[in-house]
Amino acid sequence: MPLILILVECGIELLPKVIRNHPAVKKNLSSGIYSSQLLDNALHFSAMKNLKNRDKRGRPDIIHSCLLNALGSPLNKNGNLILYIHTINNKIFEFNPKIRIARNFNRFKGLMAKLLIDGSIETENSKLIAPFKGNLKELISKFENPEVYLFSSKGKLIDNHKELFVEDLAKNYIIIIGGFQKSSFSEDIVNLSENSFSISKHSLDAWVATNRIITYYELTYRIL
Ligand SMILES: C[S@@+](CC[C@H](N)C(=O)[O-])C[C@H]1O[C@@H](n2cnc3c(N)ncnc32)[C@H](O)[C@@H]1O
Repeated sequence: MPLILILVECGIELLPKVIRNHPAVKKNLSSGIYSSQLLDNALHFSAMKNLKNRDKRGRPDIIHSCLLNALGSPLNKNGNLILYIHTINNKIFEFNPKIRIARNFNRFKGLMAKLLIDGSIETENSKLIAPFKGNLKELISKFENPEVYLFSSKGKLIDNHKELFVEDLAKNYIIIIGGFQKSSFSEDIVNLSENSFSISKHSLDAWVATNRIITYYELTYRIL
């Protein structure tokens, strides 16, 4: 019954060594400030020019918006969302549904840098963000009876949301959304599912896709 959402190839990473000496990076770097350790296209654009896979990197703002949409949804408040992010460097993290993500972007960046440095975010009593040790295939295989949907503007167009999810308590719907700005899924991601769906004739921002797909699931189960 819970919806399992995996945001994949998210552009969240610490500053790569190869650009640490670039003036655009040095200018914004301060060793005591976590947020400055995170790669951010808005600050490091000129330094990123020669980075491989540049289109998918340095976009913590995309993940911030997706997380606010997903964790703030009625589905999550009802305890029916299981949320993971997979980073461009193949790290996977599970978010505690009760975590309160900072609305302030700089504070969010600080949290993400701390996560990547420490490997998890914990309080005395609970894990707020925990690493998953394994790859995406292993993550998916954890769930019984998985139905894996890949969402892409190039997928099969769904023009009625009722076609997407059916009420079936035995089924684990796993939805995969790209946490990046442009470009397409890597081959490893494409191979995770034979079902690729589009929910619009337009290419949508990741957070719009996240919000709408969660809403479709809420409608299926009449979660308000
Ligand atoms: C900005 S898009 C990435 C660009 C890519 N060309 C695309 O449109 O799929 C970020 C993510 O939002 C989701 N997305 C965007 N448009 C979509 C659509 N029309 N239907 C379903 N998902 C979509 C996909 O998961 C995509 O990876």
